[in-house]
Amino acid sequence: MPHSKPAPIQRIGILTGGGDCPGLNAVIRVVTRAAIHKLGIEVLGIEDGFLGLIRNRIRHLRDDDVSDILTRGGTILCTSNTADPTRFKTGTGPDGKPIFENVIDRCIEHVRENRLDLLVCVGGDGTMSGASDLIKAGIPCVGVPKTIDNDLMHTEITFGFTTAVQTATECLDRIHTTGSSHHRVMLVELMGRNAGWLTLHAGLASGADVILLPEIPFDLDVVCDYCLNRNRRGKRFTLLAVAEGAAPKDGTQVVERLVEGSRDPVRLGGIAQVLSKQITEKTGLETRATILGHVQRGGTPVAFDRVLATEFGHRAISMVATRDWNHMVVMHGGETDMVPIEKVAHQQRKIPLEHPLIGMARALNVCLGD
Ligand code: F6P
Repeated sequence: MPHSKPAPIQRIGILTGGGDCPGLNAVIRVVTRAAIHKLGIEVLGIEDGFLGLIRNRIRHLRDDDVSDILTRGGTILCTSNTADPTRFKTGTGPDGKPIFENVIDRCIEHVRENRLDLLVCVGGDGTMSGASDLIKAGIPCVGVPKTIDNDLMHTEITFGFTTAVQTATECLDRIHTTGSSHHRVMLVELMGRNAGWLTLHAGLASGADVILLPEIPFDLDVVCDYCLNRNRRGKRFTLLAVAEGAAPKDGTQVVERLVEGSRDPVRLGGIAQVLSKQITEKTGLETRATILGHVQRGGTPVAFDRVLATEFGHRAISMVATRDWNHMVVMHGGETDMVPIEKVAHQQRKIPLEHPLIGMARALNVCLGD
């Protein structure tokens, strides 16, 4: 029986979804260049993540369009973390409540109209969940993992993380000096949602005395005693790195806001201020809280992330060519590999309690709050 040959790929689309992070432009650059020069296919850029697919905001990307973007933070395609094609806000009801609809059909229509054979989706778990919905609707996708949170399943690392660790470490170092000069407990809150990777790495890199993670519920008394003990020993300041997702043993996470239309509507934030007040009340020590916020997502990617993002994007284009579609690029044992996107969707990778860095922190007598 003669096999019918699959139709050749002619055009692909690329989108960046979820929160921005350093390295996104490196992926757009290599995907565009390798598609054009290696595979001889066209690339169309979809603006604002899935929002551009829903609204049909799609434009050609040529070699020149991706020139001089490697070192730039953010994403030239822009992004959105509030556009879920399966639950998209289309209006407001008479009761003032938002109306959400499944607009996957609109996405399919725009994929067809632009003659896209496949989508390269660059993003975190929300974007991979969106890609998984599109795959179920018959649109092939290839995933590229990004996030400063480093919390995507099945990959050892995501690009953007290392730059965020570097930025946060520099901030912690600066705050350290004020802590020691003024004999204060300095609390610094880092991003990362429900995973503590960013806080653990930046906390260790900056020599933080206390590191509080979402994976280890903390005991306020333990933290206060630790600060007081340092004072007694003549160390009259404490540098405390707290993850936005950290919570006390008998309490809950601090929610800053709920974002309508987002796959994960919860935005965490504010634990540093809550803790700062509590530590002062319990110990009488002077405290200050700093929330690093979006400074951790911005700026030029460090060299490692530029190379990693380029490596991931290059692997994605190879997967387009070899028809390993509906998979996401991953890093496994220091080498790129791939896993089905559906295995990554709707999941978060947290720090295992037996992780060597947790053991290392304990050996250094860092207080983890437990
Ligand atoms: O996922 C990246 C991230 O920066 C998280 O660390 C943080 O909790 C969240 O996004 C903040 O989202 P937004 O930009 O919507 O405030």
